[in-house]
Amino acid sequence: MKLFDVYPINDINIVKAKGSYVWDDKGTQYLDMYGGHAVISIGHTNPHWVRRIEEQLNAIAFYSNSVQIPIQKQLAEKLGKLSGKEDYQLFLVNSGAEANENALKLASFYTGRKKIVAFSKAFHGRTSLAVAATDNKNIVAPVNETDNIEFLPFNDEEALKNYFQSHGNNVAAVIVESIQGVGGINVATGSFLQLARTLCDQYKAVLIADEIQCGYGRSGKFFCIDRAGINADIYTMAKGMGNGFPIGGILIAPHIQPKHGMLGTTFRGNHLACAAALAVVEVMEKENLVTKAEEVGNYLISELKKIDAVRNVRGAGLMIGFDVPEEIKTLRKHLLFQHQVFTGESKPNVIRLLPALSISRKEVDEFLSALKASIQELNNQKTVEVSNEPLGVAVPKP
Ligand SMILES: Cc1ncc(COP(=O)(O)O)c(C=O)c1O
Repeated sequence: MKLFDVYPINDINIVKAKGSYVWDDKGTQYLDMYGGHAVISIGHTNPHWVRRIEEQLNAIAFYSNSVQIPIQKQLAEKLGKLSGKEDYQLFLVNSGAEANENALKLASFYTGRKKIVAFSKAFHGRTSLAVAATDNKNIVAPVNETDNIEFLPFNDEEALKNYFQSHGNNVAAVIVESIQGVGGINVATGSFLQLARTLCDQYKAVLIADEIQCGYGRSGKFFCIDRAGINADIYTMAKGMGNGFPIGGILIAPHIQPKHGMLGTTFRGNHLACAAALAVVEVMEKENLVTKAEEVGNYLISELKKIDAVRNVRGAGLMIGFDVPEEIKTLRKHLLFQHQVFTGESKPNVIRLLPALSISRKEVDEFLSALKASIQELNNQKTVEVSNEPLGVAVPKP
């Protein structure tokens, strides 16, 4: 049987990982500035995380949510403390899309309304409502199309105000990434997020912060929307939450109350996933990884800004993007195959850096050296190409 081929892949077989490094089946070492798509938070195969999962596996991996699962409460308590949202309620799921799907559904149950405000270039996942709220027509199947989603331009305060003035009483939720990930590392302004909060309060709509990529410490605050000094009514989480073990969740403000049967799924909050997630928050707390993400991220951003060919550096903490000039658009592949560095991308020419929050300055320096060398090598190639052209002049293309 063949695999269902839905994704272009690099011909690399990763068989081992530790901290910020991974190794392929030929023993080649790679620096992971991509964090396996923002998933690795405390570092690959962190020993505490491995031990907790092993111990849990030897005790019990799964039992249904029809019985007490105390490790869920342990996780909720620890997460409440670390995120500063102790009065919120935790609902566990298995992935990012599922977190958003449940958040949107809950907002609709709560308000009795149908309209969802989402923004241009948003990515919220691939399940039915989450994908409908994702600004990419190519991944929305006909059955997912709905008039219930309104896309407004990102960071456009006038458009948001105008929409609420005319439709505010129908709005169930505004869903926003405080830093858009898949969209290309687009940072929401503080005043835009504050306005979204004010309008949701005024019209009794639910503000959902999609923190699946920008949250869980990555931006240098536990939740990225905290940078704007506001609270969301629902925070959605996944990726970094399990450091590679699939788990997601939503944090729900106290005014939104549960009813039996309103949400649910078989695998949510299983023992093994909770053990992984608990290990993550324990390590994050012990190693002060949120503050570290801010410090190391600030250093990385300031060093990137010194490099000429690196344009429009943006982001916060360890969620960083920059534009790559057209002439060296193969930079990402070059970094991977010539310097063994994994990075992320956004189309057309954006490189995304999403390393583990535990990455050291030394590893960041290693990345910066590889980046500078790659740029130099690509520019040299251009020089050779130009000098080989008939009547060519041996200067790098601008
Ligand atoms: C902001 C955001 N929301 C939701 C998702 C979907 O998460 P998952 O792939 O776990 O379903 C992603 C995944 O990249 C994301 O970046």
